[in-house]
Amino acid sequence: MSLFSVLLLLLLLSPPPPVITAAHDYADALTKSILFFEGQRSGRLPPDQRANWRGDSALSDGSSAGVDLQGGYYDAGDNVKFGFPMAFTTTMLAWSVIEFGEFMPSGELRNAAAAVRWATDYLLKTLALPDRVFIQVGDPTKDHNCWERPEDMDTERTVYGVSPERPGSDVAGETAAALSAAAMALRPIDGEYADELLRGSFRAFEFADKHRGAYSDDPDLKAGGCPFYCDFDGYQDELLWGAAWLRRASQNDTFLNYIQNNGKTLGADDNINEFGWDNKHAGLNVLVSKEFLDGKVFSLQSYKESADSFMCTLVPESSSSHIQYTKGGLIYKPGGSNMQHVTSIAFLLLTYANYLSKTSQYVNCGNILISPTSLRAQAKKQVDYILGDNPAKMSYMVGYGDRFPLRIHHRGSSLPSITSHPQFLACKDGSAYFNSPNPNPNLLIGAIVGGPGEDDVYDDDRADFRKSEPTTYINAPLVGVLAYFVANPDI
Ligand SMILES: *[C@@H]1O[C@H](CO)[C@@H](O)[C@H](O)[C@H]1NC(C)=O
Repeated sequence: MSLFSVLLLLLLLSPPPPVITAAHDYADALTKSILFFEGQRSGRLPPDQRANWRGDSALSDGSSAGVDLQGGYYDAGDNVKFGFPMAFTTTMLAWSVIEFGEFMPSGELRNAAAAVRWATDYLLKTLALPDRVFIQVGDPTKDHNCWERPEDMDTERTVYGVSPERPGSDVAGETAAALSAAAMALRPIDGEYADELLRGSFRAFEFADKHRGAYSDDPDLKAGGCPFYCDFDGYQDELLWGAAWLRRASQNDTFLNYIQNNGKTLGADDNINEFGWDNKHAGLNVLVSKEFLDGKVFSLQSYKESADSFMCTLVPESSSSHIQYTKGGLIYKPGGSNMQHVTSIAFLLLTYANYLSKTSQYVNCGNILISPTSLRAQAKKQVDYILGDNPAKMSYMVGYGDRFPLRIHHRGSSLPSITSHPQFLACKDGSAYFNSPNPNPNLLIGAIVGGPGEDDVYDDDRADFRKSEPTTYINAPLVGVLAYFVANPDI
């Protein structure tokens, strides 16, 4: 036997080498997922700002309407402050802290609380006048026409607001949800502030319920919010969602009665299998199920049934029709910014698993019962895909791992920093940077991009905003999900 044959034989006899998937560094990813929010800050930056390539911006927001609307977050890669997705982002950041804050290292819990408060300080300002909720600052058409750093931004900072004549139960209801959730998240550190948030939440909800309507039904408001953040599915879900959060934060029966009495008329059991800045149904069902699962309110059973049927579409073991997955295993919904669905659904999987396991219950999928562990396994697959276990073998979080998106669709990240290039860059001066094949000069650490297409392919193309743009509502639910896996890496 030749040496070659011996080697070949040995090769054939020995077991295949184990597939080594490096465990992910969930703690590192968690830190970065929260740091991302500092890069999205609008207003006057505090001395402890860590994303130090950013500077103060939009300091006179609100002045055209005689109010102070400084602060808050830019939603994505532009410089507009859209209230509808900002409020939803806040709700999800706060919900992350409520459910999974116990798993965060104390420093990260502080950072997450600061990220929540950066939003709520602003949301409280939007409620400064009676019978008004300010829902947006910035003219999106003019803003999007420029590729400009937030620090240089000189396009019109139009202020949009809802009022009894121009109702917006969607934005006001989501603002109520955000403030109640934040009151719960922040109460352990600042009880007085939590009380203030809860009072704001009551007021926002009262306004939303009393003056019913969708903000994008008004022509002027529509011109501001659409087509970016139109209320496509109606305001009814935000009324229930706001009431559900008020119930959870205040334990006040008024809001329990509201959910019970209005569930039918407001379409609680429409059971739409979505959860995002526009559609709250799946999240509402999970949230309200908790009170049923805890054994307190039997009349809320229908919410558990709806939550179950949503979960059944996510686990392969069930015989229900399933939502779409890519070949590589990623949850996929057409329409761009797919990762928002991935992170919000992963959040619901973990949260519902926790509610169920606390009371030793299961998901009822008709033919089969699904365990909380199975839900967690689904969530983990999604997170691990984001962090690098995917066909493209890259992480979709900027700054995490060896390979990650370098040309994200983000003005501040792609233009030279105000610290290295203090000279003013006007609206169209940015085009050269937008069109440049070079990587972005400023790493927006922690940003998760819209993600690959249904073929699992990612081109890292700055112009392709559906894939390369980060948003605050992609990251917000992931903060809680990552915290869970920091403490429970093996599910
Ligand atoms: C519950 O909420 C209602 C409506 O906002 C309010 O009138 C009532 O005083 C609240 N009850 C308690 C116990 O706080």
